[in-house]
Amino acid sequence: MKTFLNILISFLLFLTTSWANPNAGESYLFRRNSTGLTDVVTWDPQSLSILGQRVFVLSAEIHPWRLPGNPNLWADLFQKVKDNGFSCVSAIFSWNLYYPAPDTNDGQGDFQAGTYRDLQMFIDSVQAAGLWLIARPGPYINGETTGGGFPGWVENIGGDLRTDNANYTATWMPYVNVIAQLIAKNQITKGGPIILVQSENEFSASSVNSPYMQGIINTFRANGIVIPITANDKNSGEDGNFSPDLPGPGQVNIYCGDSYPQGSNSWAQVQSIYYTFHEAVAFSNPLCLAEKPIGGTGYEIYSTDLTDADYGFVAKFLLIRWRLTKT
Ligand SMILES: *[C@@H]1O[C@H](CO)[C@@H](O)[C@H](O)[C@H]1NC(C)=O
Ligand SMILES: *[C@@H]1O[C@H](CO)[C@@H](O)[C@H](O)[C@H]1NC(C)=O
Repeated sequence: MKTFLNILISFLLFLTTSWANPNAGESYLFRRNSTGLTDVVTWDPQSLSILGQRVFVLSAEIHPWRLPGNPNLWADLFQKVKDNGFSCVSAIFSWNLYYPAPDTNDGQGDFQAGTYRDLQMFIDSVQAAGLWLIARPGPYINGETTGGGFPGWVENIGGDLRTDNANYTATWMPYVNVIAQLIAKNQITKGGPIILVQSENEFSASSVNSPYMQGIINTFRANGIVIPITANDKNSGEDGNFSPDLPGPGQVNIYCGDSYPQGSNSWAQVQSIYYTFHEAVAFSNPLCLAEKPIGGTGYEIYSTDLTDADYGFVAKFLLIRWRLTKT
C-alpha cells in the first residue's frame, strides 16, 4: 500500500448516502439535478448518483506517466486501489504527452499502443479493476509538472496563456478536441468508466479567464461529453470560481475545492472549514474536494491524525456528513 500511496495525491469526492430523517421538520428530500444531457450521472446536495443509486466517490489520484516503464503494471496498481477501499481513480491527462506538436500525428494525437501514452489501455485497466474514472485533461494541469503540461512551444505565442487570447485558443483547441473525443467514447453512458470530467485546474474566474473556461466546456460538449463537468478551485473551495451557484461564464456542474491542510486536525477541518465554504458558494452541489492528501511517504505531515486505517477515514467522512446534516 505504501508503494502506491507514494505516488498519490488523493482526489476525493466526498459524497454520502442518504439517511432517513429522524427529526420532524427537517427536509432531506432534494430533486436530483443533471447536465440535461444524461440521467446516468446526477447529483443533489447530498451526493452524486450513478444509474439512480447514491454513491460515495473516493478516488485515488494516479497519473499514467508516473508509472511509465511498463503499462501492464497499471492493472496491478488499480487492483491495489480497489482493494484499499477506493471506488474511483482520478487521472490527469497531460497535453504535452499526447499532443506535443501543433499538429501531432496529422491531428490525431499520439496515444501509441503499449506505451505510457496508451490512454485507452489506462482507461480499460481502471474499468477492469471495477473502478470509476474522473478525467482531468487540462489543458493546464499543474500537477507539479514543468509548464503545467503545456508543450514548450505553446509558451512562445503572442499574448497571455490560460485566457481567451485567440493565439492561445488556437494552441489548445486541437488537443482538447482529440482528448474530448477519447473521453466521450469512454463515458459511463457509452459503457466506459468515466463519470466526471474536469475543465482546467486550480483556476480562477476573471474577464479573460472565464470565457476561456467556457470555451473548454463548450469544446467538451461539442465532442459528445454528456456527463457532469467539474472545476478544481484552489483555496479550499472558498472562492466559488465557476460554481453553478454563482453567476458568470465558465460555470461547471460540480464545484470542487483543493486543499492540503496541515497539522493534527486536518480531518476535522473538512467539517469546520471546507463544508462551511461549500455551503456558502456551491450549496446545490454535494461537497467535493478535488485534492486532499491522505498520507504516504512525503505526505506524513498531512496525515498526523490518521493511522493506517483507510477504511476508517471513509467511515469518518460518512459520519461527518451525517453530523452536518443533523445540525
Ligand atoms: C497573436 O499573435 C500575433 C502574431 O504573432 C501577434 O501579432 C498578436 O499580437 C498576438 N495577439 C496577442 C493578443 O498578443
Ligand atoms: C442544476 O444544474 C445546473 C447546471 O450545473 C445549474 O445551473 C442549476 O442551478 C442547477 N439547479 C439546481 C436546482 O440545483
